[in-house]
This record gives sequence, structure tokens and C-alpha cells, in this order.
Amino acid sequence: MADPRICVVIGATSGIGRAIALKFAAQGDLVILSGRNAERGAMTAEACAQLGGQAHFIPCDLADAKTIQDLASTVYGRFGPAAVLVNSGGILQSGGRVLDQPLDQDADLWNVNYRGTFIACQEFGRQMRDARRGAILNIGSLASFAPLSLPSYTPGKQAILGLTQILAAELGPFSVRVNAVAPGYTLSDGLKAKIAAGERDPEAIKATTALRAFVEPEQIAEAASFLCSDNAASITGVTLPVDAGWLVQAPYAAYLQGNPIRQ
Ligand SMILES: NC(=O)c1ccc[n+]([C@@H]2O[C@H](COP(=O)([O-])OP(=O)(O)OC[C@H]3O[C@@H](n4cnc5c(N)ncnc54)[C@H](OP(=O)(O)O)[C@@H]3O)[C@@H](O)[C@H]2O)c1
Repeated sequence: MADPRICVVIGATSGIGRAIALKFAAQGDLVILSGRNAERGAMTAEACAQLGGQAHFIPCDLADAKTIQDLASTVYGRFGPAAVLVNSGGILQSGGRVLDQPLDQDADLWNVNYRGTFIACQEFGRQMRDARRGAILNIGSLASFAPLSLPSYTPGKQAILGLTQILAAELGPFSVRVNAVAPGYTLSDGLKAKIAAGERDPEAIKATTALRAFVEPEQIAEAASFLCSDNAASITGVTLPVDAGWLVQAPYAAYLQGNPIRQ
């Protein structure tokens, strides 16, 4: 039997990353779970084991470059070069204005959501380049495509789209593919907490999608599994929306307001 793939999932302690890690574990991959919270990391590892998979938690803090570098060298030393990297660690933001954006929060969002992903791509990308195989999956957002009123989050997620594209070009000659998924409103632990705090309106959210539905983390995991598999061997540099049709519904509904359909 072939050796299992080494799949590193950063942000595997919760939400979308956890669902992706469980999907990989169920497929028979060897999954390295990362994030800051060791307790939730152990819970995800246990859930992977219950699916018959192998998983190990190795911590990192995306705001601290050294810990990401340590994660990459630990994975390499213990297991060999990673075949898959998923960058699902990130902080959600609530609505605000650029002119009111506190600078310390802006720095935190860029450090974790963009720079942490950037450094993880560098570290694991070097392993994959040298091994001449691999797949990286970043997590974008609807904000990668549309001007959502999230003053630090939106520019950071647009930067993730650009990073995904240039890395795909840079690593393609080494048979390393780099893609992203852009989740719509996904019922992760993080989004559920925002809803519980009254910072998101679930009924209004559903009405903004073509399918009138939330996305489930497991549905993002399906797309992630495909993009990181050999079935997607010709796909690189894309950012795939998994959004229950939000990106089509938003301009469609806006246009209807000025030009209503009359029977
Ligand atoms: N849910 C949505 O609707 C939605 C939509 C579009 C995009 N996204 C993106 O999807 C990704 C995952 O979000 P989610 O909704 O699954 O949120 P979540 O349930 O809150 O999970 C966030 C994950 O990020 C990790 N994380 C946060 N800060 C970190 C840090 N400094 N270092 C290492 N890991 C860190 C957390 O782990 P620890 O706490 O253990 O560190 C956790 O595993 C994010 O990039 C988010 O922007 C989500």
C-alpha cells in the first residue's frame, strides 16, 4: 500500500479547517493539525481517529513567523515533505468603516489572515518545490471578489487571491498547484459565534444567496478535497467560490431594484 499523503491543515482546531481535516482523515491521509489551541487540536485529532485516520496536533501561531517555520521543520523532520497545505487559520471581522478602523486590529488581521498564510506558503512551498509535487489551498472569501464593508479583512482576502495566483505561476513548473476556495457565509464555529453575538442576521444572510442557504463547513471540505486531489491535476491559480450563489445573487438583486421585472 502507498504511503499516506502528508496533509497539513492550519486552522484545524475549529470550523472550516476542522471539517477539511476530518475529510482528509476519512480519505486515509496523514493529517497534521495546527492552530494555537491544543485542547481543541486534541479534540480534532480524536475525531480524525474515530474516522480511522491518523492525525497529530502541532501548534503554531500565525502571528508569529518563528512558530510557522518551526511547524514546517517539525513536519519535515518527523514525516517528510508535506504533500498538501491548507491555510484555514484566520480571524473574522465585523462590519466597519475604513476611516474608523483601529490600527492595532488592522495589524492583527493582516498578520494572521495574510502574512501568516504568506509565511506558511513560503515554508511548505519550499518543501513541495524540492519534492516536485504538492498542492496548496488558501482560504479566500466573498471579500476576495467584492467590496465587503470589512475594512481590514476585505483587502487581506483580495491579497490572498493575488498571492494564490502568483504562487501558482511560480510553483507550476515544479508540479506544485496552488488554489483557493472562497467560502460564502459558512456555519463555522466562528460564524456561529458572530450570529450568537448579534453581529450577523441569519435570515437576511440566507436571503442574499441564490440558494437561500448557508454553506456548511463540510461543503467547503468537499471542494478542498477535490482541489487538493489528482482529480484537479490541471487546475491551478483559481479561487473557487463555494457560496450558495451569493456572488450571482448580489448584483442580480441590485440590478432588479432599478429595473424591476414587470409581468
Ligand atoms: N465562516 C465563514 O463564513 C467564512 C467565510 C469566508 C471565509 N472564511 C475564512 O475561513 C477561514 C476559517 O474560518 P472559520 O469560519 O472556520 O473560523 P473559526 O471557526 O473561527 O476557525 C478559525 C481557525 O483559525 C485559527 N486561528 C485563528 N487565529 C490563529 C492564529 N493566530 N494562529 C493560528 N491559527 C489561528 C483558529 O485556531 P486557534 O484558535 O486554535 O488558533 C481556528 O482553527 C478563515 O480564513 C476565514 O476568513 C470564513
